[in-house]
Amino acid sequence: MRVFFTGGSGKAGRHAISHLVQEGHRVVNADLVALGHPGVADLRIDLTDAGQVFNALYAYAGFDELEPGTGVPSYDAVVHFAAIPAILVRPDNETFRVNALSTYNVIDAAVKLGIRKVIFASSETTYGICFADGELQPEYVPVDEEHPTVPHDSYAMSKVVNEATARSFQTRTGIDIYGLRINNVIEPHEYEIKFPAFIADPGLRRRNMFAYIDASDLGQMVECCLRTDGLGYEVFNVSNDDMSVGITSHEVYERFYAGVPRRREMGRNATFYANDKAKRLVGFAPRHSWRDELGDR
Ligand SMILES: NC(=O)c1ccc[n+]([C@@H]2O[C@H](COP(=O)([O-])OP(=O)(O)OC[C@H]3O[C@@H](n4cnc5c(N)ncnc54)[C@H](O)[C@@H]3O)[C@@H](O)[C@H]2O)c1
Repeated sequence: MRVFFTGGSGKAGRHAISHLVQEGHRVVNADLVALGHPGVADLRIDLTDAGQVFNALYAYAGFDELEPGTGVPSYDAVVHFAAIPAILVRPDNETFRVNALSTYNVIDAAVKLGIRKVIFASSETTYGICFADGELQPEYVPVDEEHPTVPHDSYAMSKVVNEATARSFQTRTGIDIYGLRINNVIEPHEYEIKFPAFIADPGLRRRNMFAYIDASDLGQMVECCLRTDGLGYEVFNVSNDDMSVGITSHEVYERFYAGVPRRREMGRNATFYANDKAKRLVGFAPRHSWRDELGDR
């Protein structure tokens, strides 16, 4: 497929792009800064400027596309990862402005240019727990996509707004728009750096619902979404099957979620960030585990 990928120079996007290139897709990376990945064209762009977005989505992906003399080909899909990825990076209002506006611009241009598939990065923070003022408990565990999304913070608010934007565009046009409620992204080198502390103090992971997503498994999820047509508008939790801590799910429950309704029995290391829907609807099959990287502790 010919894929317009935004935010591919960032932490998550660079791994997703690498995965998509391996799968044989042609990818243009649209970002404020270049990625420099072999075989991927970098287009420097500010996605908060609608003119730039419309222009870029109707453009050649490389000089080779001049050769047939048949004009500008159309993109098969847009993957929108660009964002300010947390609170406390920029002032709150700027985080909200950049994230909400860039997502509106990207989906608006995609649908008006006839692109039939948009995948966008939403976030675990939509459930409100991650950047809550104080400790917020989930209404039930494991947390699935039906759980309310009423966050306290500007970043998560922007992601909730983006989901509403996406849903409206999907309803008006009937194209496929899939939102990924991505959990905390872990790159290969971060297992060694971060997980010993998570194992020593599981409480460090409370705000992430004790979950994580391996960067290359996230790439696989994007690929699954590219391959699966006809779902309309859907959001998916994206996480690995196990937790990011060394204690059992029973111990996590007793220490951190006592009194929170449990919707089902959970296996020994089962995630509190339910990923069943992604498995069921798009065939997501996460392959990585910190236990393979560090050994079971
Ligand atoms: N990293 C995580 O743990 C995590 C968790 C949940 C959701 N997400 C979401 O996944 C996506 C990627 O996150 P990340 O961790 O790779 O973030 P990142 O900051 O590493 O990468 C984001 C990229 O977006 C680009 N960008 C920002 N504003 C832009 C603009 N106006 N125009 C063009 N490009 C712009 C940046 O230059 C950067 O390369 C984001 O939407 C983020 O909210 C990330």
